[in-house]
Amino acid sequence: KRPAGAPDKSLARKVTKVGIIGAGLMASQFALLFVRRLQVPVVITDLDQARVDKGLAYITDEIGKLEQKGRIDGDEANRLRALVSGTTDKADFADCDWVIEAVFEDLAVKQQVFADVEQYVSETAVLATNTSSLSVEQIGANLAHPERVVGFHFFNPVAVMPLLEIVKAPATDDETLATAFAVAAKLRKSAVLTADAPGFVVNRLLAKVMGEAARAVDEGTPVPVVEKALAPIGLPMGPFELIDLVGWAVAAHVQDTMMREFPDRFYASENMHVLSKLGEVVEKDKNGKVVDLTKEAKKAITV
Ligand code: 3HC
Repeated sequence: KRPAGAPDKSLARKVTKVGIIGAGLMASQFALLFVRRLQVPVVITDLDQARVDKGLAYITDEIGKLEQKGRIDGDEANRLRALVSGTTDKADFADCDWVIEAVFEDLAVKQQVFADVEQYVSETAVLATNTSSLSVEQIGANLAHPERVVGFHFFNPVAVMPLLEIVKAPATDDETLATAFAVAAKLRKSAVLTADAPGFVVNRLLAKVMGEAARAVDEGTPVPVVEKALAPIGLPMGPFELIDLVGWAVAAHVQDTMMREFPDRFYASENMHVLSKLGEVVEKDKNGKVVDLTKEAKKAITV
């Protein structure tokens, strides 16, 4: 059954090559999903070769784990590995008909990466954004062809969470939207069409839960107490464990966007911002040491 508001399937364009801008954890997770479910070449890019290599290493490792678990055989694992490549040159995106970005949650950065890639891809290549809460309309505003921009919002962990929010901006055309729904079906995600409103649907609620949990901490209740107090209401994870999963910096950006758009309804937590800075420091640590961010984060809370 076609989701409410989705255009006719027959308008969907074929996707023969996928380009992914960003090689961080979220982007690498969906690179794996795209190659596995679409079985087409997937190319990932990032600011420098080190980031690209880290993303490729994650994807290769995860393909290995799928093989170990018996979900795919050795031939399939080799085929998937051969379909994935990395580059720092956006000219390698020239023949991609589906490009998705998962770069830093900042409007100007997202506008810039799409403006760069638009110079290389065809006029009909879809430009999908995995933004958590920014306006899809604004992300595409300065492009020559904003009608091919669509929101395609995944949830962490990408392999496990069944939902995808597909976001229609005012300019998004039916062919782009139909292609987005066709891709979502191939990825075996359950897609919903949402309006281009801050936080779409899911992050409105999550930002509320995370923001109020952070507020309780700002007011003096320790993190473990807030986690424990909320466990009986049946959340699959406590709000801080969830922030740890999505990343402190991402959570703080979502919180900032919601606060800016709805100042009377959302709360910007001092502690969340302290912790998001700590998260950035940890992510920049080049020693390769695995850091328990939750443990570090709990130590950093000062109230
Ligand atoms: N990364 C990758 N895979 C993971 C994972 C992770 N962090 N955590 C669990 N998994 C995988 C496991 O490997 C396992 O896969 P397998 O079946 O292939 O072996 C599968 O998930 C199930 O694992 P568990 O048995 O450990 O499952 P649990 O019952 O503990 O559930 C969970 C794990 C699904 C992550 C559950 O705790 C949950 O639903 N948590 C809430 C997640 C959530 O709300 N996500 C939305 C975040 S908001 C967001 O991303 C939007 C952004 O814009 C902010």
